[in-house]
Amino acid sequence: MPDRRPLISGNWKMHHNHFEAIQSVQKLSYRLTKDDYEEVDVSVHPPFTDIRSIQTLLQSEKIPVELGAQNCHWEPKGAFTGEVAAGMLAKLDVTYVIVGHSERRELFGETDEMVNNKVKAVLKAEMTPIMCVGETLDERQADQTETKVAGQVVAGLAGVKPEQVASMVIAYEPIWAIGTGENATPADAQAVCALVRSTVAEKAGADAAAAVRIQYGGSVKPGNAPELMAQPDIDGALVGGASLEADDFARIVQYRLGGD
Ligand code: 13P
Repeated sequence: MPDRRPLISGNWKMHHNHFEAIQSVQKLSYRLTKDDYEEVDVSVHPPFTDIRSIQTLLQSEKIPVELGAQNCHWEPKGAFTGEVAAGMLAKLDVTYVIVGHSERRELFGETDEMVNNKVKAVLKAEMTPIMCVGETLDERQADQTETKVAGQVVAGLAGVKPEQVASMVIAYEPIWAIGTGENATPADAQAVCALVRSTVAEKAGADAAAAVRIQYGGSVKPGNAPELMAQPDIDGALVGGASLEADDFARIVQYRLGGD
């Protein structure tokens, strides 16, 4: 069984200007200990405008938090007003790029094909994609969770080599649980994350499936993180709202101490 290091990621969405971002990362670094960094990988995903400031802070203070981004374009450069290329993020020492977040899919029309192109662009730029999948409430109620999620996994990984799949992160984020205070029960979240892993096995083989890290996202809080993280196919959390408060985010990173 490969060692899948837990990864706790804070997706700040469109929150925190660069001054607020610096404060938040400083506070987080005061709360996290050497033991935390030994046990868990931690990433923060600020808006693009904050990334250079956070890069400088992490490097100058030697804070072992990884830098992440929330999106990128799949082309390396060109006439794409308003877009940011994966290579530009790599130059800023970004490690993880969230791809295909449900808000991008639902609000900005990202298709499975675009998500697949972005996954490949992130890998080509030698960063790690965090590819998001998840069903709507209507789909869940119509018993379509498995079809939707497995379909997104297959489409998102099209043409990606098994060893690249092995290096990736896939985040299962049921859309009805995002920012709502609702979350999948640990058993439900585990069942869908197991389905994600078996879909990866069919598509990219057993080794890739055993190595790929799967996060759960959707109203993760300090109180529910320990039970979610105890599930065998949940290797991490993609945290929205609770990652904006450094104290809450630190307590989620410290899930192994038992939550609140
Ligand atoms: P919340 O934790 O606010 O539900 O957001 C989840 C999410 O979308 C993280 O990407």
